Amino acid sequence: MNKGQQLYEGKAKKVFATEDPELVIVSYKDDATAFNGQKKGTIVGKGVVNNKVTNYLMQLLEKEGVPTHFVEELNDRDTVVKHVSIVPLEVIIRNISAGSFAKRFGVEEGIVFDEPTIEFSYKNDDLGDPLMNAYHARALKLATDEEIETIKAMAFKVNDVLKAFFKAVNVDLVDFKLEFGRLTDGTIVLADEISPDTCRFWDSTTHEKLDKDRFRRDLGNVEDAYSEMMRRILG
Ligand code: TMP
Repeated sequence: MNKGQQLYEGKAKKVFATEDPELVIVSYKDDATAFNGQKKGTIVGKGVVNNKVTNYLMQLLEKEGVPTHFVEELNDRDTVVKHVSIVPLEVIIRNISAGSFAKRFGVEEGIVFDEPTIEFSYKNDDLGDPLMNAYHARALKLATDEEIETIKAMAFKVNDVLKAFFKAVNVDLVDFKLEFGRLTDGTIVLADEISPDTCRFWDSTTHEKLDKDRFRRDLGNVEDAYSEMMRRILG
């Protein structure tokens, strides 16, 4: 499968057409941004880590009954995925307080919740991805009621599978962001990536941060954290 015309360039990935209109190639970059693109940098090797980690986790989720866009890894940075139309919602699941949750509600990071929380933000860079609820999403016709229910159920299932998987490699899955897409027949599948860019990972013993917060907060050893997560996940 060969890369055709570039269809899209995002902050961390490019998307290329293929000879099959139902398939595209995603290409992972080392570019890193934070705070809606205000902070910019490079995390050397990040594209390789995020490609391989995402593909491993997508295949694990498929085995556990979660439909995903994954088709085939082509090389270290490029993967064939099903062509979807992205539902413009960022779906965030949290198991432990951190990040914008801790800030918004004025609590410390590290509170372990009795049950996971879910929230949506409107995927819109110009507006800074504002928080929204399901009523807002339906009012703006971003998704139907049925689609939102499907997305919620899939997101909690992803959390169950990933939480258990990460526990086994001594990592606490603090929170993460998912995106979903519609296939041409309307079926909702898990899309985008699941990586240290889009999840918070804390070492279960030391509570060391092993994710993009090292870049966001200038904590140092960013590349080391990404490669450590790849080592733990891929074995
Ligand atoms: P938050 O605490 O900043 O809202 O982030 C929650 C989770 O979502 C965290 O694991 C990082 C991830 N995330 C993204 O993947 N993309 C984003 O643009 C933001 C703000 C967060």
